[in-house]
Amino acid sequence: HNYVAILAGGIGSRFWPKSRTPFPKQFLDILNTGKTLIQSTFDRYAGFIPKENIFIITSADYTDIVKKQLPQVSDENILSEPSRKNTAPCIAYIAFKLMQKDPEAALIVAPSDHLVLDNAEFERVATIALDFALHMKAFVTLGIKPTYPNTGYGYIQHEAMSVADNIYKVKTFTEKPNTELAKAFIASGDFLWNAGIFIWRAKQVVEAFERHQPEMYEVFAAEIPHYNTPQEQEALERIYPLCTNISIDYAIMEQANNVYVIPSSFGWSDLGTWNSAYDNLEKDYLGNAVAGDHVMIIDATKCMVSAPNDKLVVLQGLDDFIVVDTKDVLLICKKDKEQQIKDYVAEVKRNI
Ligand code: GDD
Ligand code: MG
Repeated sequence: HNYVAILAGGIGSRFWPKSRTPFPKQFLDILNTGKTLIQSTFDRYAGFIPKENIFIITSADYTDIVKKQLPQVSDENILSEPSRKNTAPCIAYIAFKLMQKDPEAALIVAPSDHLVLDNAEFERVATIALDFALHMKAFVTLGIKPTYPNTGYGYIQHEAMSVADNIYKVKTFTEKPNTELAKAFIASGDFLWNAGIFIWRAKQVVEAFERHQPEMYEVFAAEIPHYNTPQEQEALERIYPLCTNISIDYAIMEQANNVYVIPSSFGWSDLGTWNSAYDNLEKDYLGNAVAGDHVMIIDATKCMVSAPNDKLVVLQGLDDFIVVDTKDVLLICKKDKEQQIKDYVAEVKRNI
């Protein structure tokens, strides 16, 4: 009864210029491992969940890329959304579909664009979470010990006493707090980052939509006879225009009261920035992290370099820079000024 839904419809506005809307981060090999992030994600789950129980949900624009990168996944397990509506509608869709197919289904909802270093530890935690979700009819989240006030994450606060070995009831879930709040959360020492991986029963997800997003629930419930039939895609075409564009974190997680968290440490990073890629890559003795087969470094220190494998890139004398070369864009940016990239990407995009 165990299933996985890998969400692969995000547009990945960070990691510019390597990641662009037509080819976002999940389809790239950011760390030069030989696999793209979605391929690594699939392999991580295929290690302990049968392949036919792993679904990929993406927006129609990316279906062909998914098929190409994951040829081992059958066409009926690659689900295409007619438009981008963030994560709540796609999770409602898979929950309705699975509940109809297998009323006992327990489901891991997984982002397609994260890094997990310790797959064995991940499998151990995910298996405990599936078991708990199934028996306790609970929503299980995985919590990561935070290191700084990142405002792009969800923050989880839990009860002091565990309900089972290393499983805690969640007191509050706050999605993307403002800087002030994030700083207070970190200072209190009482919060974990939400890893963005949710483990729950499909039936409970559907019930949560009924309770917290009744309009969206009605829209999906009206099409129940069509899931898992040849009419499914047509049903989606009717459903999606009626859905609000909202993430699962705001739509359900902030509202739900049966949420639990497992504090986890399996070497997680959401690889949100070039600096986080730098942190997770091996460095040479001068502290340079290199992704690319033909990069020559002369007297440079603490640089993050990403280059296409078919291009020679030579660095001399740079200290603490991000250098990202792609076919048509070259970025050279001071490492501690990376946050500013997003401010000028919008401007640059208009000109290329
Ligand atoms: N199919 C589909 N359709 N997938 C989508 C869509 C969509 O419309 N929008 C986003 N996704 C996918 C992304 O590709 C990614 O794999 C995953 O869903 C999460 O979406 P993000 O847009 O990356 O979310 P986030 O990073 O802002 O926030 C979430 O993850 C954080 C951890 O990285 C939240 O769950 C936070 O609470 C969490 O801390
Ligand atoms: Mg993300």
